[in-house]
Amino acid sequence: MEQAISYERIPTSIYADSDAASKAIAHEIAAIIRQKAHEDKPAVLGLATGSSPKKVYSELIRMHREEGLSFQNVVTYNLDEYYPMEADAVQSYVRFMREQLFDHVDIPAGNWHLPDGTLPLDKIGEFCKDYETQIERYGGLDFQLLGIGRNGHIGFNEPGSLINSRTRLMTLDLTTQIDAAGDFGGLAKVSKKAITMGVQKIMEAKRVVLCAWGEHKAMNVARAVEGQVSSDVPASYLQLHENASFIIDTSAASQLTRMRTPWMVDSVNWDRPMIKKAVIHLALTVNKPVLKLTNSDYNENGLSDLLALYGQAYDINIEVFNFLQHSITGWPGGKPNADDSNRPERAYPAKKKVILFSPHPDDDIISMGGTFQRLHDQGHDVHVVYQTSGNIAVADDEALRFAEFVVDFNEKFEANNPKANRIYKEAAKFLKAKKDSEIDTEEVRYIKGLIRRGEAKNTCRYVGIKKENIHFLDMPFYETGTIQKNPIGKEDVEIVMNVIDEIQPHQIYAAGDLADPHGTHKVCLDAIMEAVQKLKHREYMNSCWVWLYKGAWQEWDIDQIEMVVPMSPDQVLKKRYGIFKHQSQKDGVPFQGTDAREFWQRAEDRNSNTAKLYNQLGLAEYEAMEAFVRWKF
Ligand code: F6R
Repeated sequence: MEQAISYERIPTSIYADSDAASKAIAHEIAAIIRQKAHEDKPAVLGLATGSSPKKVYSELIRMHREEGLSFQNVVTYNLDEYYPMEADAVQSYVRFMREQLFDHVDIPAGNWHLPDGTLPLDKIGEFCKDYETQIERYGGLDFQLLGIGRNGHIGFNEPGSLINSRTRLMTLDLTTQIDAAGDFGGLAKVSKKAITMGVQKIMEAKRVVLCAWGEHKAMNVARAVEGQVSSDVPASYLQLHENASFIIDTSAASQLTRMRTPWMVDSVNWDRPMIKKAVIHLALTVNKPVLKLTNSDYNENGLSDLLALYGQAYDINIEVFNFLQHSITGWPGGKPNADDSNRPERAYPAKKKVILFSPHPDDDIISMGGTFQRLHDQGHDVHVVYQTSGNIAVADDEALRFAEFVVDFNEKFEANNPKANRIYKEAAKFLKAKKDSEIDTEEVRYIKGLIRRGEAKNTCRYVGIKKENIHFLDMPFYETGTIQKNPIGKEDVEIVMNVIDEIQPHQIYAAGDLADPHGTHKVCLDAIMEAVQKLKHREYMNSCWVWLYKGAWQEWDIDQIEMVVPMSPDQVLKKRYGIFKHQSQKDGVPFQGTDAREFWQRAEDRNSNTAKLYNQLGLAEYEAMEAFVRWKF
């Protein structure tokens, strides 16, 4: 057999999901702890915070509880802490580490260390030196766990950091600040600085494991693993480490050559999905429409195997072109009285019952507003189901404005309502004195949720959806008041099951978005998938099709798309005004993500980009398109 070619310069293990990968990492850490205990030595661990290592820590806690893994001999040094930062603040990494690990295991107090965010500025230099000296006294780190920032940082060593950089106070990149905005309740409130372990100490660790999950990490994972070593992507320094590995999930791996163009790496099984992927990739690479690809295009771009299978480019081209053509429909609910053998949806029943699940109160209109409108206009019975309240994304002054409105309204119309007045007064008092680290009171959270409810109802009115068809689930996993959500619970799944069971839909639309930095979309999708699996034996589910759209962050790859719904310029405008109904989410929302564009701009760019790609591949030219993938449960 031919030897596979590798473009990877750091050993990289790809796991189906972050659960399995996190367990593998935790087991490696546990083995070091046990080995060191056996030698009667301390196990010196470098630890990270953020969303990536959480499941590693929960597995370590499980091993402590169920398998007697002891942390008595463990000494830890964390990578970083925001500056300035009180240790008990919600955003503090000290608090994070206590909540995620230290308070649940038997690590002796005094054995865990984090940079101190409370020091006066002139003491930081000395502190950093001492932090490194302490690590050196232990003979260096036995194991260093890392995440990777969207800009390729490790620790808070932002792009530009040198390989010999020391532990120091660092100014955070705008990307890092934007990513932290959700935790801090707005970009303006994010710490602009952090104390971070330097790259040098990380490189001196005996073993380094970097973990990454989700599509939003894919680009920088690929740059770090396959690109040149460069200070532009500090994680790429790990190419120079003798014992570093990346342990990632399939989404984070999606931009590696072996995933993007597997035929360049090894021989592949040329099934239909692989053929589509290769031909679309080829057409976009040589910048030609599919039907104009020639035998030499295939031969010169690593696809001679595929060509040999068919004999002629012409035959492959036609097959892939037809596939693309058949994915386009202006009838997302199926076209009645038409031959549907080559259409993405069934013609019958002509009037379908449809559930559109929206994780936050605006994903319906942002991600599939054009399709939403068409489904309604084409006479389907569309139910919109809002999964979470979306309350953390509402700014404090918005909450105040609405509470004040109620009080003013009551006063004007002499509707004496002491309770409303009291709630307003308390909310106003709380918000005025609110510290950045504080969680909103229940009333304030509820007011924020109501604001988003009102906006969602307004959008539905605008589309033409009747009141009875609007459902709010307020799924409990979301209601923590902070960016950190609870894991999905039985109750969450039950609520979703109930609504499906009540409506008995022919079509379900759900956000298949795994790149959501909060993870909320992912949990909402998991709940739907679990609910559908549990209900699939009901008779009505035999005729239920599930379509996945993507949220505001990414779009499906063209080769994956099974249905695209075109939009005219007027329909694009109509959708834009529908998105505008979400006033609390306009003009600098607390949680913006990495992208400075407003939601409507992102949606329009994404939809017009899909249309452009279809056109580039030789299909008709549309203004914009919304894309879907079918989940066959
Ligand atoms: C955390 C740290 C950072 C994070 C990185 C990824 O201690 O130093 O480098 O690992 O920003 O963060 P998440 O895992 O939240 O995506």
